Amino acid sequence: MSGFIRICDVEKYYGTKANMTKVLNRVSFEINSGEFMGIMGPSGSGKTTLLNMLSTIDTVTSGHIYFENQDITTLNEEKLALFRKHNLGFVFQDFNLLDTLTIEENIILAMSLQGKEKKEINARSRQTMDQLGIYPIKDKFPYEVSGGQKQRCACARALVNEPKLILADEPTGALDSKSATTLLDTFTSMNENLGATILMVTHDAFSASYCKRILFLKDGEIFHELVRGNDTRRVFLNKILDVLSLTGGDVPDAE
Ligand SMILES: Nc1ncnc2c1ncn2[C@@H]1O[C@H](COP(=O)(O)OP(=O)(O)OP(=O)(O)O)[C@@H](O)[C@H]1O
Ligand SMILES: [Mg+2]
Repeated sequence: MSGFIRICDVEKYYGTKANMTKVLNRVSFEINSGEFMGIMGPSGSGKTTLLNMLSTIDTVTSGHIYFENQDITTLNEEKLALFRKHNLGFVFQDFNLLDTLTIEENIILAMSLQGKEKKEINARSRQTMDQLGIYPIKDKFPYEVSGGQKQRCACARALVNEPKLILADEPTGALDSKSATTLLDTFTSMNENLGATILMVTHDAFSASYCKRILFLKDGEIFHELVRGNDTRRVFLNKILDVLSLTGGDVPDAE
């Protein structure tokens, strides 16, 4: 039991005693350092809830989550804020870039919040922008750049602090297929070349086929796992579609 992140018997209920919904039912799994992992499942199956437990945005009803052997379900608010700041990076569906700041300022803001030295901040942000190919547009504002460039800025912001875990909830949900492919290629490169550990929630089988391992949730429980191994992405995609057909009805790309 030495996993990088261990999710142990996590349960989540919403609502009051009289009107209680069980959203996660004894979910257990591990995430290894350097994995690119996907979570799939029908709408309402608990994917976002699970991500919110891991990101400590929301609390578990019972169970434990160990992050490098530290139980993050027992931390107080102050320690949680520090934990998030030092360990996590987020890529949101709508990217959450601030329109009044340039691309570079958006990235630097994520670092300034950590109280680093200006010189270090500038060097690190330059390096990250170079890695993601957005240095040439660093002085533009988000509304002046393409959707694909915005995503890469959002990725740079998630990556700039070298988080141990990057969490992404439906990052390709609002994108056309070309931009989605660019984002997924960026994630793959972040994972393979920079060693980032990524957990991505997605409905979409095409997006999921970029992952190395996928957990399938149904009614708040893990009901299947797929490992890509040496499969090509196309072969893996077909395996994913086979599993989705078993879940009964949640057609990929339906939303
Ligand atoms: N804050 C909340 N209060 C009450 N119920 C909630 C809350 N958040 C989520 N739920 C319920 O928990 C269930 C799981 O929601 P969740 O958002 O995790 O699903 P999901 O798998 O991410 O779905 P989608 O694919 O549509 O994003 C749903 O039935 C939802 O209505
Ligand atoms: Mg969701």
